[in-house]
Amino acid sequence: MQMVKDKRSLPRHVAIIMDGNGRWARQNGRPRTAGHREGVKATRAVVECCADRGIDILTLFAFSSENWRRPQDEVTGLMSLFIEVLRNEVDSLHENGVRVNFIGDRDQLPSGLRLGLKEAEQKTAANERMQLVLAVAYGGRWDIVQAARRLAVAVSEGKLDANTVDDAVLNKYLSLGGMPDPDLLIRTGGERRISNFLLWDLAYTELHFTDTLWPEFDSSDLDAALKFFADRERRYGKTGEQAAASAKSSA
Ligand code: FPP
Repeated sequence: MQMVKDKRSLPRHVAIIMDGNGRWARQNGRPRTAGHREGVKATRAVVECCADRGIDILTLFAFSSENWRRPQDEVTGLMSLFIEVLRNEVDSLHENGVRVNFIGDRDQLPSGLRLGLKEAEQKTAANERMQLVLAVAYGGRWDIVQAARRLAVAVSEGKLDANTVDDAVLNKYLSLGGMPDPDLLIRTGGERRISNFLLWDLAYTELHFTDTLWPEFDSSDLDAALKFFADRERRYGKTGEQAAASAKSSA
């Protein structure tokens, strides 16, 4: 497959729902934990590829608010795996100019993981090549609720006038606050839904679904998704003619 070279048709921000580790494990007669370990290998390759392709921000849905409902041993195994991955990968991410950020409900996480995420964020804070956002214990509804709660506190403390609250103000309180919205969402593993990921931020995002299971997702699958994105016409509610005119004037 031909690589997507035109920077203008490249998404600035890619978000991924990494699904299918469990099914990959079952298909290969292995335990689910082996599927997650194989998923880590795919994650490493995709992070490298996105940095090579010139993506500015990559946001990965690693563990949802709802994933706590999985069997206790799987949840504990995943938390330990995340701690191990951070410990093993943070130096290499740092050397490669990747800045790591975390979004999600920190209070829900085991202290070892909280610490690992904080150290990764601090160590890589000045890096500029690509930003890697890890969503752990994250849910889109949780995000909107925590934003609304913090906003209500600001109003009650007289720091914010309720009449000035518009979408830009609310956006600032969301986890991805200062970042551009994702341009492209990729979901692997065959399901065609958002599953409580970035509900607010995905309003105009192009959605790409693939049957490929996450452990098998590789650079050719990424390039297929980038090609899909390059072929889209992004209208943001405008007519096709208006959208083409504004794309031309901003090119
Ligand atoms: C999705 O497959 C996997 C997860 C939600 C677990 C976390 C992801 C990884 C371990 C990949 C590596 C991530 C990082 C940040 C290092 P599933 O278990 O939902 O699969 P299934 O739908 O086939 O059961």
